[in-house]
Amino acid sequence: MKPIHVALIGLGTVGCGVYQTLHIHKKRLEMQLGAPIHLSTVVIENPEKHQKIGAKTPISTDISDILYNPEIDVVFEAINGKEPAFTYLKQCIEAGKHVITANKEMFAAHGNELKALAKLHDVQIGYDATTAGGIPIIQSIRQLFKANQIKEVQAILNGTTNYILTEMRENGLPFSTALKQAQKWGYAEADPTNDIEGYDAFFKLMILSDLIFNKQPDPEHIKRTGITDVTAEAIQQAKHEGKRIKHIASIKYDQTGNLTAEVELAAVPERHPLYAVEGVDNAIHLKADIVGDITLTGPGAGAFPTASAMLEDFCMIVSQKPAPLPIS
Ligand code: HSE
Repeated sequence: MKPIHVALIGLGTVGCGVYQTLHIHKKRLEMQLGAPIHLSTVVIENPEKHQKIGAKTPISTDISDILYNPEIDVVFEAINGKEPAFTYLKQCIEAGKHVITANKEMFAAHGNELKALAKLHDVQIGYDATTAGGIPIIQSIRQLFKANQIKEVQAILNGTTNYILTEMRENGLPFSTALKQAQKWGYAEADPTNDIEGYDAFFKLMILSDLIFNKQPDPEHIKRTGITDVTAEAIQQAKHEGKRIKHIASIKYDQTGNLTAEVELAAVPERHPLYAVEGVDNAIHLKADIVGDITLTGPGAGAFPTASAMLEDFCMIVSQKPAPLPIS
């Protein structure tokens, strides 16, 4: 059978996770998809940082090596920030390639534009890895919530902050030490400001908002707080009261009909659906009108959980059974 040619943009934590997963699980993926998988090129900024993989895989600093290679079917994008990711993905879609992204900041801002462009060019976008790491939340909502209407979401969407809060409470670690550990494990962003100030959770919440409510809330109906002001005393006081401090992203319509979103700290009791979500795990608690309450939980950050989400998108796209993309 004709090989599936793929390309990868970025070799940071997530890019390396994808690269390694494509190699470690090559046989299984090829069996599943019924075709050989060929990694055609890896586009990175600084080749000198990645000399170890150079021998077997062509490395390039030029996106044209993907755009003008007609053999490449699918492009994995794993770089940080809106640009050049948005431009690269637009160009890949216009060149007729399916794209799979883990870039939440870019997709929160430009997801709808990319979805519309993909529809125009008859290609697919996989973006499950943008939100909640390895939890298949995007595909679950796209594939499995068709009869239900989702009314409200409460979620832990950042692995770094949940890890820090857990370590401060359970092991008495100071904030800075817990953050350093999160960085060491590859959970935190290169610049962790987006994690600890709540921007990363906010980007993911906006991606869910587009998917579930077909729009994002007006800025005046959005509140965002980080975790940098949480003290060890507040965490221990909550513990003493049988509660845990969690960094919760939520979205719903308020009583006056406005879509409202919050990323806030809350001391939650044991009966709360997010109380038991610990360490790097994320969880999404959905209230839907037919089924009632459902919570999906799993690893929210790290190279392999994120690579897992990207590879599941890959299998879905190559199997040609994608659900239609909602475009708001
Ligand atoms: N820095 C992010 C987190 C990575 O900690 O959740 C996964 O998006």
